Amino acid sequence: MDLYEYQARELFAEHGVPVLDGGTATTAQEAREVAERMLAAGSTLLVVKAQVKTGGRGKAGGVKLARSAEEAQARAEEILGMDIKGHTVRTVLVADGAQIDTELYVSILLDRAERRYLAMCSRQGGMDIETLAKEHPEALARVPVDPLEGVTPAVAARIVAEAGLPDDGPQGTAARVAAVIGRLWEVFTSQDATLVEVNPLVTTPDGQILALDGKVSLDDNASFRHPEHAALRDSGEADPLEARAKEAGLNYVRLDGQIGVLGNGAGLVMSTLDVVAGAGERHGGMRPANFLDLGGGSSAEEMATGLEVVASDPQVRAILVNVFGGITSCDTVANGIVTAVGSLEDLDKPIVVRLDGNNAELGRRILAEAALDGVTVVETMDGAADVVTAIAEKLGA
Ligand SMILES: Nc1ncnc2c1ncn2[C@@H]1O[C@H](COP(=O)(O)OP(=O)(O)O)[C@@H](O)[C@H]1O
Ligand SMILES: [Mg+2]
Repeated sequence: MDLYEYQARELFAEHGVPVLDGGTATTAQEAREVAERMLAAGSTLLVVKAQVKTGGRGKAGGVKLARSAEEAQARAEEILGMDIKGHTVRTVLVADGAQIDTELYVSILLDRAERRYLAMCSRQGGMDIETLAKEHPEALARVPVDPLEGVTPAVAARIVAEAGLPDDGPQGTAARVAAVIGRLWEVFTSQDATLVEVNPLVTTPDGQILALDGKVSLDDNASFRHPEHAALRDSGEADPLEARAKEAGLNYVRLDGQIGVLGNGAGLVMSTLDVVAGAGERHGGMRPANFLDLGGGSSAEEMATGLEVVASDPQVRAILVNVFGGITSCDTVANGIVTAVGSLEDLDKPIVVRLDGNNAELGRRILAEAALDGVTVVETMDGAADVVTAIAEKLGA
């Protein structure tokens, strides 16, 4: 999950990374109120910033200065609703404006290919990292970080030295930037992030070091360790079907084909996607419309939610349920399908079921006896994929 700048800024503040005061607003009027509060507290220059999960907001006109509450309101009016690289601006951050001396770039990220972390630092901050890496690779220091050692003060000192910040003593800029990098490492590890980026990290004429922008990506696989991260999720942004599946504990990913695919176990679902895509080549190019892993349980309830989620995707023409009975035997799964299909009133999409493994025979018999409308049982995975893609092709004709 990527965070908005204002969320990253809050994490920074919690971990002692220096940021300026600010507040968010979703209307121009609200932006004016935030500005009034900040001006009353002594601010003289404000910045109104579009909150969208993409970079280059400054260039796109999404970062504007304001010197009064009226100006802040007017700038917010312009920025709210703006489209930046396909992202609509629904929130602005009204932040204190900094006097900038120099702009640095700093990031810490998970380097999957090298199986370690990587810290990057440059004296040429402000421009986006892709441009910097391409046009001035020599100006971007890349320092590998051993996961067991982490960013110790010695490593942080090496990062700033390699970026070319001159060593100007224990209270100097280089040493203080190194200290900020140490704090960013704390954000990175304590939050289970895969990326923490500050661009720009600025120095000011009066000797401050400030994070003026922040990008943080959190590792969703570690979300169980961070119940507090749920509050950072932007419910309006996610696919509503994905949100519903997630609530029910199902692993669902939307793709863009025509065949809804449900299975138990990620490996089985993945190979089902391949087999469906293969069969689709013989049937009008039909492809999987989603990945839905029911998990180990496949209770009637999970089956019902799974079928409901997949069936309510308008692009789905037909559904393939592919279950390999293990601890949960096929008769339990078959009963689950019978209950689920019975409980879903407007389930009008054809379903092809393939059951194998523990008690498969019994499971198939239960389905045969239930004789559900629109449900076809096929014994093999290849056969089931062939039937479901043929049905979908015909429905599209
Ligand atoms: N609080 C601020 N005070 C002064 N200038 C700022 C402030 N925030 C951003 N800027 C300026 O605007 C530029 C772009 O803002 P930034 O937050 O980095 O957005 P983006 O990276 O999406 O363009 C920065 O490089 C900086 O020069
Ligand atoms: Mg930036």
